[in-house]
Amino acid sequence: MTIIKGGLILSFICLIHRGTAQTTLGHLFSEEVSNISFPKNFKWGYASAAYQVEGAWNLDGKGPSVWDYDARNNPDWFINGQNGDVGPDGYHNVDVDIELLLRQKVNTYRLSIAWTRILPNGLLSGGINQKGIDFYKNIITKLRANNIEPVVTMMHWDQPRALEDNGGFLNESIIPAFLDYATLLWETYGDDVQWWTTFNEPKQICGGGYDWGWSSPQNLLPGIGSYICGHNLLRAHAKAYKIYNERFRETQKGKISVNLDLTWQEPATNSPEDEEAAERGRLFWLGWFAHPMVFGDYPEIMKQRIGDRSRRLNLTTSRLPEFTEEEKEELKDSIDFFAIQMYTTNLVTAQEDAPVNETSFDNDLSINSYQPDDWPTTLSSWFRVVPWGARRLLNWIRDTYGDEKGIFITENGYPDDQTILEDMDTRGRCHKLYLSNINDAIYKDKINVIGYLAWSLIDDVEWYGGWVVTFGQYNVDFTSENKTRTPKQSTEYYRKVVTTGCLVDDCVEPL
Ligand code: NOJ
Repeated sequence: MTIIKGGLILSFICLIHRGTAQTTLGHLFSEEVSNISFPKNFKWGYASAAYQVEGAWNLDGKGPSVWDYDARNNPDWFINGQNGDVGPDGYHNVDVDIELLLRQKVNTYRLSIAWTRILPNGLLSGGINQKGIDFYKNIITKLRANNIEPVVTMMHWDQPRALEDNGGFLNESIIPAFLDYATLLWETYGDDVQWWTTFNEPKQICGGGYDWGWSSPQNLLPGIGSYICGHNLLRAHAKAYKIYNERFRETQKGKISVNLDLTWQEPATNSPEDEEAAERGRLFWLGWFAHPMVFGDYPEIMKQRIGDRSRRLNLTTSRLPEFTEEEKEELKDSIDFFAIQMYTTNLVTAQEDAPVNETSFDNDLSINSYQPDDWPTTLSSWFRVVPWGARRLLNWIRDTYGDEKGIFITENGYPDDQTILEDMDTRGRCHKLYLSNINDAIYKDKINVIGYLAWSLIDDVEWYGGWVVTFGQYNVDFTSENKTRTPKQSTEYYRKVVTTGCLVDDCVEPL
């Protein structure tokens, strides 16, 4: 079937699917690509994280993070022994990687700081590692000198192992430790960095680390650990935000947020039960963190369900901790932009409530969230390419939290076998179709989306997955001494998009 859109003739592919359109939404998959230019001041770039790109896990005074600890103590958690000890060795390739950013002509680069490179045992009282301070100073200075705006994440999953001996995020003593660290970062880099995020994907830090697994330290207390961790993390964020307001905002004029992620939860049918289940999924997965930082407290549905399920177990208090009135005040309005990472979409159907005596986050939520077999797969089992989910997600964020402060897409990407360099029809196409939906969100739905950061510039360490499946637009030869970087096809396309603001050959300006 051929359709005409905005002067372009493009083929329209409806994916063949087994179920009915109503239950698999196959009709929403489209190859249509917008020909309207993105806004001129749009932020285009890449995102990365310290553990995934740096290597140098114990060089120049760096202390161990939870991941470094597990690479030694639980090596079988890492596929083929592939861990972040060396990885793509970004530590020794700063200039090489900045050259790649320049080649790509991006205006923004998101990096994270390894807490233990700055404070080796996590605590200010343990001493500051000057070589770590210098390492990031050099990167930030070079980015600025090349007109690339740094977006800095303070902690991307790699909390200090030393703090884990006290329970890590399960112990509120991590809050003052984080505040010292955040303050030091603002004192040191705050004049050069305008865009900050305190934490990356708290759901993964807390759920993966302390509840259901798949992220270090895997100190698991199902149905309890994620809520305690989330509570401490949110309080740490809000108190850091307050410190910034009181001490740094006036002179540094930066913006602060938290990178949140959501697999879009789409009701499988339009039945009220499925609609309610999908909304509950969004509120548990994203609202858990977004609600407190926008409205000052957890979503009602979380308080109600977890409270009720705790009472039915004869617990005296809810497994979901409560904020004090003062904490609610601190949390409310504690982000300056909405940072969202989007990858894929699930369908949701309602299900019977799970028994209360098996405590887990999933049971508290009790929905059936899945991907139909006929949706396009990738090498990652959790990721199917669902471009239309991006637009739905942006609409929901705007409708639920507002978009006045701007919605910043701080990650999106495509996983594949890293040796495949001809990736235009896979990775390139995926960025194109997601970006087209984002473009529709901007122009058709009038949503204030301010930027897009591709994950990732180079192949890196996908946590326990090593580099068996990677997201990079540049291949890294992990066997070579220099960890040689080689462009994949998608670099050409992304560079063109970044330089022209246009997803197709010719664009029209927005009206
Ligand atoms: C989100 C995480 O922030 C990042 O560390 C990870 O590599 C990507 N998703 C891809 O899985």
